Amino acid sequence: MRQFLLFSVLFLLSGCAFIKGYQLDQRHGRADPSRFDQTPDRQAIANAPVEYWRDVKPITDNRCAVCHGCFDAPCQLQMGSVEGITRGANKTKVYDAVRLFAANPSRLFVDAQSNAAWRARGFHPVLNERESTAEANLDASVMARMLTLKSKHPSIAGSPLPNDRFDFSLDRDQYCPAIEEFDDFANQHPEWGMPYGLPALSKKEEQTIKQWLELGAPAAPPKPLSEPQQKRIAQWEEFLNGDDIKSA
Ligand code: HEC
Repeated sequence: MRQFLLFSVLFLLSGCAFIKGYQLDQRHGRADPSRFDQTPDRQAIANAPVEYWRDVKPITDNRCAVCHGCFDAPCQLQMGSVEGITRGANKTKVYDAVRLFAANPSRLFVDAQSNAAWRARGFHPVLNERESTAEANLDASVMARMLTLKSKHPSIAGSPLPNDRFDFSLDRDQYCPAIEEFDDFANQHPEWGMPYGLPALSKKEEQTIKQWLELGAPAAPPKPLSEPQQKRIAQWEEFLNGDDIKSA
């Protein structure tokens, strides 16, 4: 009986996400995992009023990368680069003390080379990968929905955060809702918008990121490194990768 109940609940839950996915498909078309792998239109980026390097990165560096910066970031969502943002998130923990067998590493830039390849490895998008309309780019983006959730339920700046509402431990349980699961997540944890447990972005910062999302997240290709920068990198590589025992 208990097993039957468990299966029914699991079935209902998966059915729910399934129906949400179907509804999103009806509204905004099917998701295309390679949407952010296509070569960007340079002219469109040059004309975009909001662009990643100039307008968005300073905000994400300042307010998001403190948690979403490294290999074991929450939901593996790395926000130090646009590639980390387009790769998206993954429910699997990087460090898991109860894991018995070795896991496939998921190092950004190393273990897969395209967003589509990351989708095949269990990453779900936090940007909209359905039709690129201003409406869909907000409605079908986990990132946009997380910011909206926060602005509806902002934490009180300057007050100590009660531990029963926000868990900052490294091994906290995490949900990492895909867009299909987002409504349930928001209903159950209305205060867990982003930045998690910290004051909300300023209205202007939120608007900048939302406008960037609406435009389809335009990002210019990175500028090539200057000669002095390349020289410096070569020096560090040589220093850090020496063969002698001391270097190792
Ligand atoms: C204090 C640490 C912290 C900061 C700062 C922070 N986050 Fe998060 N973020 C988390 C945690 C923890 C989760 C996992 C929540 C869960 O699923 O239980 C998360 C999850 C997310 C997710 C959901 C991923 C998914 O799979 O559903 C998004 C999107 C996100 N963060 C965006 C942001 C953005 C954008 C910022 C900056 C404006 C930000 N975060 C700042 C801790 C943080």
